[in-house]
Amino acid sequence: MKVNGEEYRTIWMEGTTVYMVEQNLLPFEFEIHEASTYFETCFAITTMIVRGAGALGAAAGFAMAQAFMHAPEDDYWDFIEQAKEDIEATRPTARNLFYAVERVYKAGKNGAKEAVKEAQLLADEDARDSRLIGKFGAELFGDETSILTHCNAGWLAFVNYGTALSPIYMAKKDGKKVFVYVDETRPRNQGARLTAWELKNEKVDHVIIPDNAAAYFMKRKLVDFVIVGADRIARNGDVANKIGTLEKAIVAKEYGIPFYVAAPTSTFDLNCLHGMEIELETRSEDEVLYQTGIDTNGNLSKIRVASPGSHAENPAFDVTPSKYITGFITEKGIIKPYVQSIKRICKAKRSSINYLE
Ligand code: MRU
Repeated sequence: MKVNGEEYRTIWMEGTTVYMVEQNLLPFEFEIHEASTYFETCFAITTMIVRGAGALGAAAGFAMAQAFMHAPEDDYWDFIEQAKEDIEATRPTARNLFYAVERVYKAGKNGAKEAVKEAQLLADEDARDSRLIGKFGAELFGDETSILTHCNAGWLAFVNYGTALSPIYMAKKDGKKVFVYVDETRPRNQGARLTAWELKNEKVDHVIIPDNAAAYFMKRKLVDFVIVGADRIARNGDVANKIGTLEKAIVAKEYGIPFYVAAPTSTFDLNCLHGMEIELETRSEDEVLYQTGIDTNGNLSKIRVASPGSHAENPAFDVTPSKYITGFITEKGIIKPYVQSIKRICKAKRSSINYLE
């Protein structure tokens, strides 16, 4: 994606350093954060400097590669095993994080060079898959389409392009008219902060709506499609995604609006039989009790927005049962949310796909 006229990926690695867009500062400041050890990359994941399924996968893969590059000779495998454990402990829900660690760890058995090669390949695959998701997703749209999306499954959540937003970017490029309803996505406001920033940057017409307003717009037939991303998809098609996704899916079904989940096959977890088996992260109550933003003097500040003395619960993800899902938009095509279709698409060879790049 282009920012201030320059082409960027959300995350990349040069030498032993991982570079990433500092997402906690957006939309107010655009800054590149550097992590020079696997430990620093883990810190970037836990503090959400980098976030979103695909970007987390790339970060975890790079962190594993950094561990191979930095492992001391006299303590080589203990260091690697500890690093693997540390990286996997950063965040539990996104499948891509574990998928990437597994692949880079396996490649690293043949040396650090192979680990780096695999981590770079994973990042390239993520960008390519996102772009293909855009191509398939855009084919669903007519000349004029309105889409509702939740959280941020755009460029910032992946290495490039994104998943839920990729069809929107592709359709716009094809000359179609698209309008996006952006759920603010409390408590961290990934929609209001990140998705809105991306769409503005790409000159896509959009409006931010309160999280509890989706039914209002869907009932008035103002939404043609709901498209969201996914953090982990079980074998039966149940989807773990940002908290609030389940509500949107139920409302969409009530009003007969197609509800699509856009995700690469690397997000499917065939070992996970159904959504109940997915570990869902809970986060600090501070994210609900306080909000961070820019004050009238232009300073970034954190203020309490909830009644002092009250506590909050902060589940970060929920699971949408497959019965609410119209289809999955993947890099290999669009499928129905059935076990057989999921198994078939996950096993289909990449080489059998006609890539655009
Ligand atoms: O907690 P986050 O910001 O890492 O949330 C994950 C997500 O970005 C969303 O659930 C998203 O919709 C799917 S991941 C592309």
